[in-house]
Formats: sequence, structure tokens, C-alpha cells
Amino acid sequence: LTLCGAVVLLAYLLGSFPTGYIAGKLLKGIDIREIGSGSTGATNVLRTLGKVPGAFVLLIDCLKGVLAIIFTYFIFNSAPIQNLIPTTVDVQFWQPWLVTLVGLAAILGHSKSIFLGFTGGKSVATSLGILLAINLQVGLATLGIFAVVFTISRIVSLSSISGAVAVSIFMVVFHQPLAYILLSIAGGLYVIIRHHSNIERILAGTEPKIGQKVGNEP
Ligand code: G3P
Repeated sequence: LTLCGAVVLLAYLLGSFPTGYIAGKLLKGIDIREIGSGSTGATNVLRTLGKVPGAFVLLIDCLKGVLAIIFTYFIFNSAPIQNLIPTTVDVQFWQPWLVTLVGLAAILGHSKSIFLGFTGGKSVATSLGILLAINLQVGLATLGIFAVVFTISRIVSLSSISGAVAVSIFMVVFHQPLAYILLSIAGGLYVIIRHHSNIERILAGTEPKIGQKVGNEP
């Protein structure tokens, strides 16, 4: 149990790594949280710092999710840890639940970073990384929904919200364990809630499309 707690805590710290904030400080000496949407995510980095930094932040934030999950699989399937687990414990059953906790911790870390006074991004890229590492089909299908909505609307937030809604459906369609279905519902809802100001702007017709500039969020 202590080891499970340590792995979840590590996932939170990994998710907390403030890629977008560091990019803003290093490249322009700015606090990205005071510009554009105020998010430290790749979209705000793209509109504030440009395409290459945006792609870089997207990649690293996605990798945080991938690493958190791969690390968990690695630890729990390593021989020393397997030897520590009593034979009465059904590892096949419990592993998805631990992966779920790790995923939620990394998602939380990205948007409530301990290094940024519990501020951050909207957890989209990190969630994508988690999905791709848990089940490639679900990850790619969700990415597909994002891509279709983005191609039509050019609005990243709307595309992210669509992916967050679709992910639980894909988890069911691809026969994933109950733990992952719950992860997709909780993670999806969290990502949607993180987009509350985007939703207000989408409804008001003022949400910027990629390429447009935005004012600061209240
Ligand atoms: O990655 C988050 C995206 O869905 C919205 O970002 O900066 O437009 O609020 P932003």
C-alpha cells in the first residue's frame, strides 16, 4: 500500500512538471499564466510563443502521462515487487485500479501543479499520453475525434471537450476494464470542468480559433 501511495505521488509530481511555464520564462521571460487563456498548456504556448514551442510542450506534457503509466507497469511487473505481493492478491485485477489512480494523479498534477501554486494547464495533453499508454486504440480513436472537430472548427478547446466526452464511449466500445471506464468518466469530466471559461466563450461566440489572438481571462 505504501508503494502504491509512492507511485501515485510520483505521478502527481511528474504531472506537475510545468513545461509550458518554463517555456514562457526561458523563451520570452514571461509568466504564461498572465497571457492569453492563462493556461500553461500547449495551446496557450502555441498562441503566445509559436508553433515549435507549442509542439514541444505538447510532446513533453503528453510524455508525462505516458511515463507515469509505463513506470507503474514497470514497477509492478518487476521481479522484486512481484515477490513482495502476497499470492492471495490478484495483481491482474488490481493493476488497472492502480493505473487509474496514477492517471488521475498525473492529470491533477498537470492542472494543479505543486510547482505553480496549484495552477497549470487543462490536462488535455497529459490525459492523451495516459490514454495512449493504457490502450492505443482508445487513445488513437479519441485523438481522431479531436482531429475531426478541430479540422471543422479550428477551436482547440471544443476539440478537447469533444474528446473528453467521446473517451468513455471508446473505453466501453473497446471492452476496457471497469477501472478504465471510471477513469475516462472522471478524467473526462475533470477536463470539461477545467474548460469552463472556454465553454462560456464558445457559447458567447468569442472563443478564438487557432491563429487569432485573445485577451486575458478574468
Ligand atoms: O489544451 C487545452 C485546450 O483545450 C484549450 O486551451 O489555452 O485555449 O484554453 P486554451
